[in-house]
Amino acid sequence: MSTSLSWGRHYLMTEPTHYRIDYAINPFMDTEIQPDPARARAQWDTLKATIEELGGRVDVIAPRADSPDMVYAMNLGFAATLADGRRHVILSHMRFPERRNETRSALDWFAANGWGTAYVGKDGIGPCFEAGDVFPFAGHLVAGTGPRTDELALKTLAAELNVRVLGVRTTHSGMYHLDLAFCPLDERRAIICPDALAPESAQALLDLIPEPLVITEEEALTTFAANSIVIGRTIVMPSCPDRIRTVLEGWGFTIRIVEMSELHLGGGSVRCVTNPLDIVVGRDVPVVYGGEVVAT
Ligand code: ARG
Repeated sequence: MSTSLSWGRHYLMTEPTHYRIDYAINPFMDTEIQPDPARARAQWDTLKATIEELGGRVDVIAPRADSPDMVYAMNLGFAATLADGRRHVILSHMRFPERRNETRSALDWFAANGWGTAYVGKDGIGPCFEAGDVFPFAGHLVAGTGPRTDELALKTLAAELNVRVLGVRTTHSGMYHLDLAFCPLDERRAIICPDALAPESAQALLDLIPEPLVITEEEALTTFAANSIVIGRTIVMPSCPDRIRTVLEGWGFTIRIVEMSELHLGGGSVRCVTNPLDIVVGRDVPVVYGGEVVAT
């Protein structure tokens, strides 16, 4: 059996109090179709309770009334404990101005909780960076560039964290963050939807995964299966088609389904609403002093 991921047991989530569809910045969003607040809250509560039941820990950041997308906490920033023990977060510089206020609250929360903070760009100046594009896997920090994150941001990520960043180009308008198309499962396995990526980037990412579970564009877009989180050997998913379930269970994973239909209206699922706080440089991704960027 392949070794479980060492991260993914501690998350930051934002309460869905102000979640609604005020604008459309991805193909899932339609201001004519609003989420039901009570159902959205119930789904969010169930997800939080499920993570806790599985032994995970959840910290909660207060939502902002002016930021209806802040429930998608994955995009607040990329948080990691550095090799010297300092906790450090690279705050997101959102592509769309509609989401930029979220960073103000993220800054306050991280600073108040003992994290050092850094920016890739700020208030519309400099490269954009959204943390839903970034995951450690197989010796690299894998970073999607394209709809939300600019290639220029990778240099800052690499230098701030002292890691090797593998840039992969995402080209699909419906998979605008890498976390909609790629999900590390354990040290050898990951879910990947190659259709989300430029061909050479898809190949570079496939080359990194000893045992990939390749999903189709349709599977990724209709089931949000890649937008899952993994706690040890349990995968918390919004849905799981039989074909995918057979592979995952064959690999020894247990599947926990948490209904996320109301959150899907904004274009996010399980992963998008949970931001991992327990990634460690030197354990989950090797230290490369000064950092290094490999772009495909
Ligand atoms: N409405 C949000 C946006 O378009 C959805 C974010 C989804 N989050 C994610 N990590 N994929 O920014």
